[in-house]
Amino acid sequence: MSHTSALWQPQAHMPSLAAGDRLTIVEGDGAMVTTDDGRVLLDATAGLWHANIGHGRARLAEAAAAQMRRLETYHTFGRIVNDQALALADRLAAMSPIEDPKVFWVSGGSDAIDTAGKLTRRFWQHQGQANKRIIISRDSSYHGLHAFGTSLAGIPVNREGYGSESLIPETARVPANDADALDAEIVRLGPDRVAAVFAEPIIGTGGVILPAPGYLQRLEEICREHDVLLVLDEVITGFGRTGEMFATQLFDLHPDMIVMAKGITSGYAPLGGVLIGPRVWHPFFDSPDAPIFRHGVTFSGHATACAVAQANLDVLEEEDLVARVAELAPELERAMAQVAKHPSVVEVRTGIGLLAGIQLIDEVSADLITRVCLESGVLLRAITGNTLQISPPFVVEAGALWRIAGAIAVALDHPDLQEVQGHGPQLDHIEDDD
Ligand SMILES: Cc1ncc(COP(=O)(O)O)c(C=O)c1O
Repeated sequence: MSHTSALWQPQAHMPSLAAGDRLTIVEGDGAMVTTDDGRVLLDATAGLWHANIGHGRARLAEAAAAQMRRLETYHTFGRIVNDQALALADRLAAMSPIEDPKVFWVSGGSDAIDTAGKLTRRFWQHQGQANKRIIISRDSSYHGLHAFGTSLAGIPVNREGYGSESLIPETARVPANDADALDAEIVRLGPDRVAAVFAEPIIGTGGVILPAPGYLQRLEEICREHDVLLVLDEVITGFGRTGEMFATQLFDLHPDMIVMAKGITSGYAPLGGVLIGPRVWHPFFDSPDAPIFRHGVTFSGHATACAVAQANLDVLEEEDLVARVAELAPELERAMAQVAKHPSVVEVRTGIGLLAGIQLIDEVSADLITRVCLESGVLLRAITGNTLQISPPFVVEAGALWRIAGAIAVALDHPDLQEVQGHGPQLDHIEDDD
């Protein structure tokens, strides 16, 4: 059978896919998905950390269809707008952990990072601080794969190969959990040259790395001391993943901007956005000679995507799913503790929300473990640092968390892991970074 396809997949080793190493998903229902050959799998990662309310919700489909029948979308450039873009911005502003924010809509997380990156630089230029251009990010961080995300990436494979150290110039990296190192780097670069720090409150794709106690609060203080903007990337943590609506609330932080995507629609439509605090938006709103922020995409505030987001937020609220995440978190922790004892496990990182990373010893490939888990009907992903990603939909049953732990434990004890290797290329290529 030929496995050739015209599709060039993101973050994929295409020769392996062409040789047949491909898994095609065709259906979803709650925390389960079905493959094209009829296997029903437990979606232990909620896709790319996005399917928060679970798959196959007719209500979301109906919201999309109703909006499309009325108006698929209308653009929001200049003085034109659509009602859905306005309504969702107001709803987000009302639930935002940043007080009195403005909302800028785009099509996804990478778009939103580009927006926050450009706005950071535009803000300082307009403030007359033309030298404030450097953006600092953390080692192991993932901020999408557009030009800004590639330039900010703390995962080396995602930033390398484009001919210069940083695709967009003037970025810098610091160790992930060392506030003193951040302080020293800002001093070394010169606070008058540093525009912003971009940080995921919990590093996701980089290996589910939790912040050290007090780290994020100290990071915020350092940004304030040096008059550097703080941009929190809540693309994974936003909309309930941590057991609070935003990790900003969980850690009591006060960022200048929050980047969001994924969970705002739970994947039922592509949508991203940036919540922007008053300090940054005022100069663009206040006076008749305020500058225009020359940014946006055709589908900024896409009406159907915004209508779908409304239905997604309704489901989150009506079914109290964020509270459910907080309730399930200790159960996930207990289930993963079973795996932590295994000699092939270096570390289990969990304890906040429905998120866990299981780092394996170098001799046991996390990719291989995901392939063995598939045989017991559990769909997992290998992420950076030979780590397994666990981030199920919020509707997952408590028992399924134990099923995930059980599948991993069985896989780690598989008598001959090598035989299951299939067509896998070197690990470097397999670790998919979303
Ligand atoms: C923390 C974080 N930021 C940004 C992005 C990019 O989002 P998107 O893939 O929607 O462009 C991701 C995607 O995984 C992410 O995890």
